[in-house]
Amino acid sequence: MNILVTGGAGFIGSNFIRHILVKYPDYKIINLDKLTYAGNLDNLRDIEHIYGLSEKRYGFVRGDICDAAVVNEVVGRKPDAIVHFAAESHVDRSITNSQEFLQTNILGTRVLLEAGRQYNIGKFVQIGTDEVYGSVEDGYSKEEDVLEPNSPYSVSKVAADLLARAYWITFGTPVVITRSSNNFGPYQYPEKLIPLFILNLIEGKKAPLYGDGMNVRDWLNVSDNCEAIDLVLHHGKIGEIYNIGGDNERTNLDVTRTILDYLNFDENFIEYIKDRPGHDRRYALDSSKIKQLGWEPKQRFEEAIKDTIEWYRNNEWWWKRIKDGEYRKYYEKQYPVG
Ligand code: NAD
Ligand code: DAU
Repeated sequence: MNILVTGGAGFIGSNFIRHILVKYPDYKIINLDKLTYAGNLDNLRDIEHIYGLSEKRYGFVRGDICDAAVVNEVVGRKPDAIVHFAAESHVDRSITNSQEFLQTNILGTRVLLEAGRQYNIGKFVQIGTDEVYGSVEDGYSKEEDVLEPNSPYSVSKVAADLLARAYWITFGTPVVITRSSNNFGPYQYPEKLIPLFILNLIEGKKAPLYGDGMNVRDWLNVSDNCEAIDLVLHHGKIGEIYNIGGDNERTNLDVTRTILDYLNFDENFIEYIKDRPGHDRRYALDSSKIKQLGWEPKQRFEEAIKDTIEWYRNNEWWWKRIKDGEYRKYYEKQYPVG
């Protein structure tokens, strides 16, 4: 199979590319990524060497999914499927300025869907999020639940999912949608809770916890999400939506304490700060539909968080290049815009 992955230089996209190329020795991937601040080809250094230069099964194109010329060029190479990760992904940034979120997440998705339609793509996997259901005080969100997005980010993700659905209904574009909970693992940009707190503590700084720390998220190891997306890519029913939850509900305070304990810090290293505006209290998914397809999360939070902390401890080269901006300087030179 030939796959076009968008946003493959980001956190989940890079883990997914590695998962697919290792598991399927005859598959090829093209990675289309704009290389925003969150796109980092250091995430794929090993992949570039083994599967790019030597096996010629991986190729990178720097480009914006909003640019129809670039998108048509790569979709015109006739991949069998598109797996669409590219997005602005950080809720706090969408609160400060939502422009790029609406541009990339909605209009960029439209450009891709349109190219998929024109070139008769075999499958279009739209990567969505559990945030589209809004805050769930009790119970678990099912795929057919009402959508109640509360941040500019989640609004943009709702619009993208609904556009994808509309392309299926209107044009028969073979769309499948996944909606996962909070991912964690290697190569996550250190603006998100888990890598931010780990690196702050490693550097002797405090962990900035919003509000009372009692907001609940369901944590999904990125390797479990990659397996689920792989399953949906191959066996997901066209026109369907699949929730992907980790069955690891934790308050932010619990997550913080787990990280503090493992790194031998006490609670004086928590700094309670002003809450995020519109902060959703709880997300929780009912994942029974994808479980019926044959998937279940393998990683338990307590073990996977230790592996994740160890990964950040052992890969200082990776996060130091983010903190000093070297990764951007390096790849801007290698892949200049225009
Ligand atoms: P990320 O921010 O780490 O990576 C996003 C990638 O998209 C980057 O490589 C960036 O350069 C690229 N990109 C951004 N704008 C682009 C554009 N206009 N054209 C081409 N490339 C562009 O994000 P992530 O955490 O890996 O999330 C990937 C996807 O999964 C997103 O769609 C996100 O909404 C969704 N998601 C994430 C999580 C999570 O916990 N991280 C959970 C559920 C869903
Ligand atoms: O639920 C899936 C979503 O998970 C994805 O769609 C998003 O792309 C991804 O960014 C993530 O969104 P969250 O807002 O849940 O993730 P974040 O890591 O920003 O925050 C997790 C929780 O931790 C949230 O309740 C806010 C809190 N938090 C976050 C940061 C960055 C803090 O208390 N302090 C912080 O400094």
